[in-house]
Amino acid sequence: MNERELPGMVVWVTGASSGIGEELAYQLSKLGVSLVLSARREHELERVKRKCLENGNVKEKDILVLPLDLMDRSSHEVATKAVLREFGRIDILVNNGGRSQRSLLVDTNMDVFKELIELNYLGTVSLTKCVLPHMIERRQGKIVTVNSFMGIISVPLSSGYCASKHALRGFFNSLRTELVEYPGIAVSNICPGPVQSQIVNNALGEEVTKAVGNGGDQSYKMATSRCVRLMLVTMANDLKEVWIGDQPFLLVVYLWQYMPTWAWWITNKLGKKRIENFKSGVDADSSYFKFLKKKHD
Ligand SMILES: NC(=O)c1ccc[n+]([C@@H]2O[C@H](COP(=O)([O-])OP(=O)(O)OC[C@H]3O[C@@H](n4cnc5c(N)ncnc54)[C@H](OP(=O)(O)O)[C@@H]3O)[C@@H](O)[C@H]2O)c1
Repeated sequence: MNERELPGMVVWVTGASSGIGEELAYQLSKLGVSLVLSARREHELERVKRKCLENGNVKEKDILVLPLDLMDRSSHEVATKAVLREFGRIDILVNNGGRSQRSLLVDTNMDVFKELIELNYLGTVSLTKCVLPHMIERRQGKIVTVNSFMGIISVPLSSGYCASKHALRGFFNSLRTELVEYPGIAVSNICPGPVQSQIVNNALGEEVTKAVGNGGDQSYKMATSRCVRLMLVTMANDLKEVWIGDQPFLLVVYLWQYMPTWAWWITNKLGKKRIENFKSGVDADSSYFKFLKKKHD
């Protein structure tokens, strides 16, 4: 099935103010779904909404801008009720909002690790817990979580981020087994590799108050539109897990999954270079990934 199965659905997207979530809003609005756009920055959500109305197949009444902080778990129940009041149902919850990390454990304040777990993991668990009873009542729905290659593999400078994404993968794989009596409820883990967005710009560094602030070169990353198109196919087909990435990055994930001893060896070699670049102030990602791509080509 392709994404033309989705029109008419009510889709709640977190992290809709930027990057993957923003592009998802555009592609979903072209399909004619009802959209709930959430993130912290309301003015950015309003900008995304305007663009959806200009270019999409939706009307004003089809889009709800709902500011939401994933870290503020006490607000999630109220937000869920607001969506149900507006549209009467939630067909798809897309857990997309999140932040990454660029720092070595030894130099990093514990608050950074706490923030990554509170936001990427507990925030997502909390919102899912609010929405799920409604899906159980209807015996249908889709819970789609934007995980990462970092939920499967691990690299240096992102230990807190890797931990949060590994936790999410374990959580949703377990939740799926709890929902065995509800075959109409699908749980999908979407694991993208490097994709063009603001993720590195917004990544946490050594202190929780300081983002990396320099997104670096994005040319080697997958186009956001391509990643999102494949996410729509995932949603239409209720796929349990998808890995979305170009080569050679995908190959690294296969190694971690099927030949971990080789993966550890290679990751040590490449990781050393990544740390060296980071310490010398070179764009760690760009040189690391370009190095990988060059080796592959
Ligand atoms: N781009 C990649 O290479 C890549 C690869 C694998 C996985 N991912 C995953 O894709 C997802 C989207 O990231 P992106 O690449 O699109 O990055 P992005 O451009 O930085 O977007 C991140 C989104 O998360 C929202 N967000 C951050 N903190 C939040 C909070 N406390 N409460 C609610 N929303 C919050 C941001 O909105 P506000 O700042 O307005 O709140 C923004 O809309 C993340 O889960 C990320 O881990 C990305």
